[in-house]
Amino acid sequence: MLPKSGFYGVLFLAMTSVIACGDGSKTTFEFMPDMMDQVSVKAQEASMRTPPPGTIPGGFDPYPYTADQGDLAGLELKNPLERTKETILRGQTVYNNTCIVCHGSKGDGNGSIVPKFPRPPAVTSAKVTDWSDGRIYHVITRGQNLMGPYATQIPPEDRWAVAHYVRALGRAAHPTQADIDALKKALNEGTYP
Ligand code: HEC
Repeated sequence: MLPKSGFYGVLFLAMTSVIACGDGSKTTFEFMPDMMDQVSVKAQEASMRTPPPGTIPGGFDPYPYTADQGDLAGLELKNPLERTKETILRGQTVYNNTCIVCHGSKGDGNGSIVPKFPRPPAVTSAKVTDWSDGRIYHVITRGQNLMGPYATQIPPEDRWAVAHYVRALGRAAHPTQADIDALKKALNEGTYP
């Protein structure tokens, strides 16, 4: 026969071991269910904050095309930025910061990382020149084979700006006579670039 306090001690140990023996995969015995099912709101619970309009939850990717849907993206996506001098110069900055190491200053694929990294195809090719801006945007967003995606490093607006710049590189690599004349004129008048 245990003394009274000893009896309660054993009872207490038996109860705590029942409560504590859950391995996390099953619901454990709820000794005092009110503690589990409180009315209080848990931190970060949906009802706690209403996100400001226009924001997206962290980790959510609003880009709807998978890597192999480049042709569809190219058809559906339109460059929201106008082709202005400012946009092209912004695209040049982004290109020089991110793309130039592989694709080279002229877009011919002769970047400083080559040949340690396999030489990429020229972004001035007829293939890319024929692409829409959306198709170029898709490659930057999702990557293509050896080229990784740049969606996390480059915000959408800068991706569109760089699409303009890639197009400008293509035009610079294959200028028309009118382009050459315009360049000569701008150089003479000191208005280049
Ligand atoms: C680490 C090197 C690297 C960087 C940085 C890089 N690319 Fe690429 N890029 C490649 C390679 C390699 C390919 C060819 C992938 C393949 O085999 O399909 C490629 C392909 C492309 C293509 C498609 C060309 C084609 O003919 O299919 C475009 C357009 C392009 N890159 C644009 C860019 C732009 C714009 C940036 C900067 C935002 C960039 N790349 C950054 C390596 C790179």
